[in-house]
Amino acid sequence: MKFFIDTANLDQIKEAQDLGILDGVTTNPSLMAKEGIKGDENVKNHYKTICQIAKGGEVSAEVIATDFEGMIKEGEILAALNPQIVVKIPMIKDGIKAIKYFSDKGIKTNCTLVFSLGQALLAAKAGATFVSPFIGRLDDISSDGVELIHKMSEMYNFYAFDTQILAASIRSTQHIIQCAEAGADVITAPLDAIMGLLNHPLTDIGLAKFLADHKKVNG
Ligand code: E4P
Repeated sequence: MKFFIDTANLDQIKEAQDLGILDGVTTNPSLMAKEGIKGDENVKNHYKTICQIAKGGEVSAEVIATDFEGMIKEGEILAALNPQIVVKIPMIKDGIKAIKYFSDKGIKTNCTLVFSLGQALLAAKAGATFVSPFIGRLDDISSDGVELIHKMSEMYNFYAFDTQILAASIRSTQHIIQCAEAGADVITAPLDAIMGLLNHPLTDIGLAKFLADHKKVNG
């Protein structure tokens, strides 16, 4: 199972990278805007920096265009920045055409904004490398995000699709665990949700006791 961090914040990417378990980074236009990154050149330079920090990891960079030609043009520019770049394309009609185009050219894609099994089927059929179901946003509207991961995993396994399920819009540590149980190939999550996996009160209590016992005899 791969671990991606869902941010454009360089310090957070460094922190996750330092833990030694990071396989990649996902960004989106909202996350780039949150870091104040604007203008084509700045955006491209930011992606390049993310690729350097992520040391060989896969980095999703999202196109802004929503028409086929525009997505191809932008995607090709993004893909040329660094071999680590995965072109992130929205789940719309021209997006599916663009995913097929890039897939035929051997360029990795991440189909974003996926909310249904039908969309997931279409993206896999077009040859997407990753498909990103947004589980938190489904939960937000009283739907069941994790259930979608279960169903996608069953479907992709049944038809032996190579497409990887990239569980996105993760809001908590518990979401990560649920996605792992449901068969996600990749999770992308905020830093605090990833770091939350470290915690258990019995670990803290146990470690304190081990250290106290060691001190008793060793001083
Ligand atoms: C995924 O690639 C998206 O960037 C992200 O997970 C969206 O999460 P949100 O619903 O918390 O904005």
